[in-house]
This record gives sequence, structure tokens and C-alpha cells, in this order.
Amino acid sequence: MDIDHGHWWIAYTEEGKPIGFAGLTRSAQWSNAGYMCRAGVLPEYQGHGLQKRLIHARIRKARSLNWAWLLTDTTDNPPSSNSLIALGFRLYVPSVPWGFKNSLYWRLDLSKGRSHAVRRPGSKKAKT
Ligand SMILES: CC(C)(COP(=O)(O)OP(=O)(O)OC[C@H]1O[C@@H](n2cnc3c(N)ncnc32)[C@H](O)[C@@H]1OP(=O)(O)O)[C@@H](O)C(=O)NCCC(=O)NCCS
Repeated sequence: MDIDHGHWWIAYTEEGKPIGFAGLTRSAQWSNAGYMCRAGVLPEYQGHGLQKRLIHARIRKARSLNWAWLLTDTTDNPPSSNSLIALGFRLYVPSVPWGFKNSLYWRLDLSKGRSHAVRRPGSKKAKT
């Protein structure tokens, strides 16, 4: 994990204990897209919406960077998939999948409401 690259969040309890983290990078292929690269919540703090808050923080950051899309993937991970669905992500099939055979690919259209046209990740070769 390259924490010198991209944007990172760490969630703390009120007592200052780190309990969750999340990362965001620019897509390797799409200059107008971000990629949610990593996330984790300590087991005893799971199920309280922290992952959704960390996804929401990354959506806000991606919007502030004027990116049009936010991309990510999950593998055998119903909790993450449900969090992504709750925040409006949709499944898609990239032309060049980068994950495992059973990975799912997700994207959120950040451009809705903007006037300029955007290219659609997945319509051409895309790494992330
Ligand atoms: C995945 C992970 C980050 C989720 O963190 P979290 O803070 O517990 O997530 P949230 O509480 O925001 O949301 C979890 C969602 O999954 C749902 N969920 C929980 N367990 C589930 C299960 N076994 N099957 C299906 N859905 C499940 C919850 O109901 C919740 O959705 P809802 O709020 O819409 O009902 C955490 O489990 C984790 O760190 N796992 C190990 C590392 C990992 O998988 N990282 C992500 C890589 S993509």
C-alpha cells in the first residue's frame, strides 16, 4: 500500500483510537476519475456505518477535485457492495478488468448536474 500517493483518511474514536481508514487515488487510466483503493474498519467497530462515512468523504473529495467518476472494485464482499449501493454506485463491466475473476466493478457518476460531456470509464481500455 503506497500511502505517499493519493488521499487517505483515518477515523478515530473520541478517545483517539484509530479504527478505520480509506484511500483515494486518481484512476491510472482515466484522468477525470478517482479510484477508491483501500478501506478497512476494525471488526469491533463494523456495522455502524463507518465505511459509508469513509466512502462519502471520498465522494466529497472527488467532487472537489472536479472528477467526473469514482471507481472501485469488490471481491467476495457483500458488506462493501451494500455500502456502495447505499451511496448510489452502480455495477459496470470494464473493457479490461483489473481484479480477480470474481471481482465486481463499481462506478459513481459525479457529473450529473454538470453541463460538460464526460467520457465514460469502461467504454475504452481502463485499468482502474
Ligand atoms: C467492509 C468493511 C470496510 C465495512 O465496514 P463497516 O463500517 O462495517 O460498513 P458499514 O457499517 O458502513 O456498512 C456495511 C453494510 O453492509 C451490510 N452488511 C453487513 N454484513 C453483511 C453481510 N454479511 N452480508 C451482506 N451485507 C452485510 C450492512 O447491513 C451495511 O449496509 P446497510 O447499512 O445499508 O444496512 C469492513 O467489514 C471491513 O473492514 N472488512 C475487512 C476489510 C475489507 O473488506 N475492506 C474493504 C475492501 S473493498
